[in-house]
Amino acid sequence: MELERTLVLVKPDGVQRGLVGTIIGRFEGTGMKIVGMKLMHVSEDLASRHYAEHEGKPFYDGLVNYITSAPIVALCLEGPDAIAITRKLMGATRPNEAPPGTIRGDFGIEVSRNLVHGSANKQDAAREVGLFFNDAELIDYARSNDVWIVSDEG
Ligand code: RTP
Ligand code: MG
Repeated sequence: MELERTLVLVKPDGVQRGLVGTIIGRFEGTGMKIVGMKLMHVSEDLASRHYAEHEGKPFYDGLVNYITSAPIVALCLEGPDAIAITRKLMGATRPNEAPPGTIRGDFGIEVSRNLVHGSANKQDAAREVGLFFNDAELIDYARSNDVWIVSDEG
């Protein structure tokens, strides 16, 4: 298991619906560590850089409108396998394919209002964390119970 950092966004629908605490709680509950967190309004420029891979797709304009429409909460989460664990908790992109127990399965109905973003792989994670956070906003700290979340005995 390799220590990873990943970008999570609670998208505008999550904030508007009062699900910030619930969604962050799902991630926190695993033991992953919050190393960055802020409420922010995503600019058109940041949205286009974040979603560059989707430019030209039919849903692109709607996606940029959605993510820039109201504040989001950006998080950087750290832990062994943080990228895969985050994606597992989110569930499939389309809420109707996301199982119960996942964030999208429990709280979503439609793909264009699917509540959360999580980086898809290590390369995306490094790029996306860098887009949303500067170095000073990422905090290195120990928790007294870290040893009860990740064993130091291998
Ligand atoms: P995300 O990037 O938000 O974590 O989600 P994802 O990897 O599961 O999905 P991705 O394929 O990267 O798509 C990014 C976001 O675009 C919206 N989308 N809409 N209308 C559509 O067919 C459609 N497809 C994708 C969703 O908000 C999705 O999360
Ligand atoms: Mg994606």
